[in-house]
Amino acid sequence: MITRGVIKNIKTSSVLINSIKTTQCNFSSKVNYDEIYKKHLKISEKKFNKQEIIQTIKDNTLFSWNPTEAAANKALIMEKGEGVYFYDTDGKKYIDFNSQAMCSNLGHTVPEEVIKAVEEQLRSAAYAYPCSIVTPIKAKLSMLLADLFPGDINHFYYTSGGAESNETAMRMARLFTGRHKILARYRSYHGATLGAMTLTGDPRRWNSEPGASGVVHFMDPYPYSFKWGETEEQITEMSLKYLRETISYEGAKNIAAIFIEPVTGTNGILKPPKGYLEGIRKICDETGILMVCDEVMNGFGRTGEMFGFMNSDNVIPDIVTMAKGINGAYLPLGAVGCRGRVADYFKVNPIGIGSTYNSHPVTLASAYAALQYFLKNRVLDNVKTLEPVMKKHLEQLKQRHPTVKGYRSLGLFGTVELQKNSKGEPFVEYNGPAHPAMAKLSQDFVDNGLYTLCRWSSFFTNPPLTINEKELKEGFDILDKALTNLDKHFEK
Ligand SMILES: Cc1ncc(COP(=O)(O)O)c(C=O)c1O
Repeated sequence: MITRGVIKNIKTSSVLINSIKTTQCNFSSKVNYDEIYKKHLKISEKKFNKQEIIQTIKDNTLFSWNPTEAAANKALIMEKGEGVYFYDTDGKKYIDFNSQAMCSNLGHTVPEEVIKAVEEQLRSAAYAYPCSIVTPIKAKLSMLLADLFPGDINHFYYTSGGAESNETAMRMARLFTGRHKILARYRSYHGATLGAMTLTGDPRRWNSEPGASGVVHFMDPYPYSFKWGETEEQITEMSLKYLRETISYEGAKNIAAIFIEPVTGTNGILKPPKGYLEGIRKICDETGILMVCDEVMNGFGRTGEMFGFMNSDNVIPDIVTMAKGINGAYLPLGAVGCRGRVADYFKVNPIGIGSTYNSHPVTLASAYAALQYFLKNRVLDNVKTLEPVMKKHLEQLKQRHPTVKGYRSLGLFGTVELQKNSKGEPFVEYNGPAHPAMAKLSQDFVDNGLYTLCRWSSFFTNPPLTINEKELKEGFDILDKALTNLDKHFEK
């Protein structure tokens, strides 16, 4: 019989691991907790080097989205974050040009007031059962959110992240309307839990199919391979006509909600054409379908407005979902907000769900302090001031690099589309196979000290909303340098 200790000693050899798996050996269930404690007294004091971190990560963790081995080999290490930068264990500095997952909106230095609020909350009431106990911080944050949202979006339900917020919104819409179907768009991402994955239109959905029932996808105003029209007006008109037709085939009386990211995020930073959000609002008003805006990425300033739906003429959605920017992602927190008539329904009818970490007081305290910091430091004004500066840098990239096909940006939400030739063909088609030039570009960013997300034939420029002009230029200088290398792959 192989004992647990022996297995631990031979764990680093993958050949042996595989042979162990297939020989069905017996493990002892005896564990010496004193020894473990002593071991970790030492480990906690030890500074792991790069190799030890990566090896332990491989030995003891699994990655999200990608196969662990490859993801671990490519992973950067963040030992310390500061402002718009983070540092690895060798002290190498990276400028964060994607705010991690477009979420570290206040940068990597946690404002003192957030630290203080979290510490005070931990000391006063660290946890409260959300179903029967309320906390002062829940009252205060809810009042602040009600103040921040326009219209009568005044009631909030707290979750642990974006996907859970969308799951909750789906359920609320179904309960409120008594209808089952949900419409969502193809060029969208709504999260990685079952319902949110089913809502998601992009290929990240495929691994989770068949998914939840009742979701029907429709095409965006900006499909990948064709156009609804040449002008914004034509695009809006045709895509709304198509949406109306989709609704008539599905039956308006069967549809609980239409979910949209007001400004499409990872699927291309796509600002809705003029009149589009207003058109969806009108359709919803006529049909009794609820308009749900996923503000998980847009929300709290990213698009240059406090919320993405505010890039419209007075559209107020029925339900909004949020996370990320609500507290700069310092702790896991999401929320769902709803208008008066939806809230009225749940005042007398059960929402029928709940989880342990809903309304976690420490996360709520982080959000209350982070949002006050956001207001005090006029972060939204910073985004508005830097919006044209970022556009200018993007335009310069376009002028300087034949591989830059174009760019889109609003607020500090930007993306650059790349082309491999003068015909405008991308290096990687939509969801197509990887291209070595894109892999090299991504590596050049890292080597030159910049972190961002490359997706197919594009990359993002989404720095923390607290970035300044000098830091923005520093990031664009690195992009410029890396693109000079990519230009060598341009086929004239
Ligand atoms: C628009 C949108 N909705 C939902 C989510 C899911 O949020 P979370 O990862 O917190 O579950 C994301 C995450 O990137 C997102 O961008």
